[in-house]
Amino acid sequence: MVISILGSTGSIGTQTLEVARWRGWRVAGLAAGNNLELAVQQALEFNPDVLSVNDAILEAARAALPNMRVVADALEVAVTPCDVVIGAIPGLAGLAPTRAALTAGRNVALANKEAMVCGGPLVWQAARQGGARITPMDSEHSALYQCLVGERMADVAELILTASGGPFRDGPADLSAVTVDMALKHPNWTMGTKVTIDSSTLMNKGLEVLEAHYLYEFPLEAISVLVQPGSLIHSLVRFKDNQIKAQLGAPDMRLPIQYSILSAIESASSGEVFIGGRRPETPLEPLNLIGNLELRAVDRQRFPCLDLAYHAGHLGGVAPVALNAADEIAVAAFLEGRLTYLGIPKLIEIVLSQAPRVELSWENIASTDTWARTRALEIVAAS
Ligand SMILES: NC(=O)c1ccc[n+]([C@@H]2O[C@H](COP(=O)([O-])OP(=O)(O)OC[C@H]3O[C@@H](n4cnc5c(N)ncnc54)[C@H](OP(=O)(O)O)[C@@H]3O)[C@@H](O)[C@H]2O)c1
Repeated sequence: MVISILGSTGSIGTQTLEVARWRGWRVAGLAAGNNLELAVQQALEFNPDVLSVNDAILEAARAALPNMRVVADALEVAVTPCDVVIGAIPGLAGLAPTRAALTAGRNVALANKEAMVCGGPLVWQAARQGGARITPMDSEHSALYQCLVGERMADVAELILTASGGPFRDGPADLSAVTVDMALKHPNWTMGTKVTIDSSTLMNKGLEVLEAHYLYEFPLEAISVLVQPGSLIHSLVRFKDNQIKAQLGAPDMRLPIQYSILSAIESASSGEVFIGGRRPETPLEPLNLIGNLELRAVDRQRFPCLDLAYHAGHLGGVAPVALNAADEIAVAAFLEGRLTYLGIPKLIEIVLSQAPRVELSWENIASTDTWARTRALEIVAAS
């Protein structure tokens, strides 16, 4: 197995490299951002054909790795020959390399949910043009995929995503005094900063609802969310005969990472859409199921970001792009102390209500993203 990783120095990237160590996979390409020390360390250990880093550290990386091809563009990593490209650059920045990989015929194991949220139908078009597979890496979408193995989409009645509920699922009732430290304390998962804040507001779940909508080309009205405080049931599928399948696993991203990469390969070689990718002897503890399987309804009043995401999906076109951009600005402003916690959904709601109503195209994604960021920054500055 030969993999390339877009976002190798991040949470998903480093865990993917751990899986590569377990399995002895070769790494053809690594795309990092600004983390020079870790990028160099990874390059020395895995000896990829190409490493990309951000401009700011390009010269330093070249100096540290004189015998390696070091470039400034993740697109070059995306198209380097390999079996599976792991899409784990967060935000809209992950869309262009994902598109490039798919168009070049590379199978993509996709963690970057924003690519599907912002460009879903176009991302599928790129995959079909390139003859490439997309398999989900997000734990919920991996869970749905695992429930769908051996099934027909025509038999599916409902996709049910689960949410841990984040650090505020049991209170306080009033979230106006939430600080950055409080929001960064996720009860079950260790993840990057942006996705951790998104988990606390349930915007992460909202983005995942949109991701599921586009990934499985399934109606929004038939996608729902339940809180699963134990984070062991990762999602469920209800079929038209009213039977339900659920997928359970430890809250450890290395499991869906490994599954996603393996099923991309299995799917590409067998031609089947839903096909499992398992390996025995994964070095993780067994699950403790007792007392950890509770399911609850979502408190939609306290977590309005979830309904904002549904609203964007119903608006269609580029509305999810505006939602995503406003959320990125809102989360960054909150982390920098320039916006309150409750200011996050308020900001997103305003930007979404003013966003241009235009059809989805690559050009409109870029222009809407720029417009929404500018508008969101104006609102932050005025607040
Ligand atoms: N973490 C999870 O458990 C999890 C679970 C499900 C889905 N996801 C999704 O997976 C994606 C990655 O999440 P993460 O938690 O791994 O993020 P993260 O820890 O913040 O890591 C981001 C990675 O992307 C690189 N990067 C950021 N911006 C870049 C740019 N413009 N060009 C090139 N490289 C860039 C970073 O480089 P430097 O650090 O070197 O700057 C780093 O390697 C997100 O879309 C997230 O929603 C994450």
